[in-house]
Amino acid sequence: MTKVRFPRLAYNKISMAGLALALMTALTIAFFLSVQSREGRANPYLGIFVYMVLPPFLLIGLLLVPVGMVRQWKRIRKYGKSAIPSWPLIDFNNTTHRNAFIVFLAGGLIYGVLSTVGAYQAYHHTESVSFCGQTCHSVMKPEHVAYQNSSHARVPCTACHVGEGAGWYAKSKLSGAYQVYATTLKKYPRPIPTPIKNLRPAQETCEQCHWPQKFFGGQQRQFNHHMYDEANTPWPINMLIKTGGGDPKTGQTAGIHWHMNIGVKVEYIDRDERRQDIPWIRVTDRLTGRVTLYQDEDNPLSEEEIQAATPRVMDCMDCHNRPSHKFRSPEFAVDRAILTGQIDRSLPSIKRVAVEAMAEEYQTEDEAKRSIATKIPDFYRSEHPQLFLDKRVAVEQAVVAAQQQFSETIFPEMKVRWGDYPDNIGHFIYPGCMRCHDGHKVSEEGWVISRECKTCHTILSQGSGERAEMASSQDGLEFVHPEDIDEEWRETGCYECHTGTQP
Ligand code: HEC
Ligand code: HEC
Ligand code: HEC
Ligand code: HEC
Ligand code: HEC
Ligand code: HEC
Repeated sequence: MTKVRFPRLAYNKISMAGLALALMTALTIAFFLSVQSREGRANPYLGIFVYMVLPPFLLIGLLLVPVGMVRQWKRIRKYGKSAIPSWPLIDFNNTTHRNAFIVFLAGGLIYGVLSTVGAYQAYHHTESVSFCGQTCHSVMKPEHVAYQNSSHARVPCTACHVGEGAGWYAKSKLSGAYQVYATTLKKYPRPIPTPIKNLRPAQETCEQCHWPQKFFGGQQRQFNHHMYDEANTPWPINMLIKTGGGDPKTGQTAGIHWHMNIGVKVEYIDRDERRQDIPWIRVTDRLTGRVTLYQDEDNPLSEEEIQAATPRVMDCMDCHNRPSHKFRSPEFAVDRAILTGQIDRSLPSIKRVAVEAMAEEYQTEDEAKRSIATKIPDFYRSEHPQLFLDKRVAVEQAVVAAQQQFSETIFPEMKVRWGDYPDNIGHFIYPGCMRCHDGHKVSEEGWVISRECKTCHTILSQGSGERAEMASSQDGLEFVHPEDIDEEWRETGCYECHTGTQP
């Protein structure tokens, strides 16, 4: 049997090193792929390694082979016999040449197929939730955790952040490359600024799944509050929210989803980065072309400011700006835990004590957990010593629940607290709808963007015990503020007193 031989030119240090590199990389890739398939689920770090870090080494290795051969060729031509022609002679009757050609062809084919599959896998990998949410683990942990607790927990990050089409894919990977660099060098801002400057328009993301024409009618919601008193008195408010929306063809475009650009175009100019201060709003009727301009009566924009600004057309994200990353306030988190029984409501003042323990500013999550674990028991030990002995288990459970709520809603390492990410739905602890509907946005004709409570919802029931009220007609109930603050709520926004902890 004859030994398989390759062209003599291939026997040089560079080509051999290249071949060794390529072989080693190929084996490593094969090893990791088999690990991954045995694990059965995508590991983000492994994915980056297999699909992004290793392939260039494979390519470099393979390229080194011809590079070495060319160098060898030049060397031989320089010092060797002049009979060597300037281009290599390929002779298929020569076994060595034939072997080299077959190896070259087979190798090329395999590499071609593998890199196509690899590119496809790399594409999928960089679009996966584990890549987005875990690779930059510490940076995006707040968004990832909030996402896992949202209605969109099964919607891939990219369905909202990238959408379909090659253009936005490339755009997102370019900005992503910068983000990877920023993360590696820890150069990112804390917390991550919001809103996202050039988020893809909602028509191309949200509206792929949600069909504005198909919304109509109202939506019933119950808001479960507990007072900050010793009894943690429940104060549920049950409302019909007039979502509306609908198809202009049927004339059904009233309600809250009226702003969705079906029959009208709503544009606004903001004064701050976060779009919380909106002094200028323009409404254009798409059918008649009529334009109505509303300005803040107390603090309008100057002519120059208006000229310098580009109005933003309102879309889904101007209200649903936190569809999958809601950072809940301690108040909301504790109310929820009491409602679900994770925290025992019979513990006196537990609402206040738990909210206070959660709301303090901590440097790390561990510090917060330790502090919660001392603050809550300390309160009962000193204020209710007998109860502390009788209800030890309930107190311990309250500690665990408060710690868990903390780690799902507040992220000290990224400086993420509820107040940093206003949610524009509603108006309880953030201005939200009241950015425009505060009763101070007036048009030249003297129209005011409505602050009337019933424009947006009717109250079906409110309060508990002796103070509970049920609506007896479609008009609903007049709002009753649980604490006596006179009629203050008629003029002052809820969010001016309520901030997510005790007002
Ligand atoms: C249902 C749509 C949706 C999904 C799914 C989604 N996001 Fe978001 N994300 C948004 C919107 C909307 C914003 C805020 C945009 C704004 O206000 O400008 C946002 C904001 C962000 C921000 C900026 C900081 C902030 O909190 O405002 C980061 C980071 C982020 N998302 C990461 C992720 C990651 C990681 C995933 C997947 C684990 C994900 N998102 C999934 C819609 C989504
Ligand atoms: C890939 C499909 C998909 C995309 C894209 C998507 N959603 Fe959703 N969305 C859903 C599904 C499915 C539900 C219902 C989840 C449930 O009922 O548990 C939902 C629920 C909702 C709800 C009601 C539940 C809630 O949290 O109040 C809102 C509001 C919403 N989506 C807004 C948006 C917005 C805004 C965007 C764009 C930023 C968006 N969605 C993008 C699939 C999607
Ligand atoms: C003016 C603010 C506003 C705009 C703009 C807006 N929404 Fe809504 N949307 C609401 C409110 C308020 C609700 C009631 C639910 C709530 O309070 O969370 C709602 C409810 C929803 C729901 C849940 C409906 C249901 O019946 O379960 C979905 C889904 C939704 N919106 C999607 C969208 C999409 C998609 C867009 C953009 C085309 C959009 N919204 C634009 C304010 C808005
Ligand atoms: C950027 C400004 C802006 C924001 C933010 C805003 N609105 Fe409006 N809204 C308007 C304007 C302008 C009108 C039209 C007023 C008029 O013509 O009387 C309007 C009208 C309405 C109407 C009456 C629609 C009809 O049936 O004719 C409802 C209901 C409504 N808004 C609910 C909401 C809710 C709920 C939110 C918060 C989730 C909200 N709006 C946020 C500007 C805004
Ligand atoms: C421009 C529309 C609009 C107006 C005007 C408005 N609201 Fe609301 N309100 C909403 C929306 C939307 C929500 C639902 C927020 C959510 O789904 O989280 C809400 C939520 C509430 C809640 C529940 C808050 C919570 O989180 O527990 C109460 C109570 C309430 N509104 C009372 C009032 C009262 C009282 C008035 C009149 C002074 C009023 N609203 C005016 C749109 C409006
Ligand atoms: C002038 C300040 C002020 C305004 C404005 C105000 N509140 Fe309150 N609110 C309070 C105080 C103070 C308490 C008592 C807190 C306690 O239980 O000790 C309270 C308690 C509550 C509670 C019960 C406990 C809790 O905090 O969850 C609800 C619910 C509530 N307010 C809703 C509203 C709504 C909705 C609005 C807007 C329509 C509003 N408030 C406007 C000051 C205010």
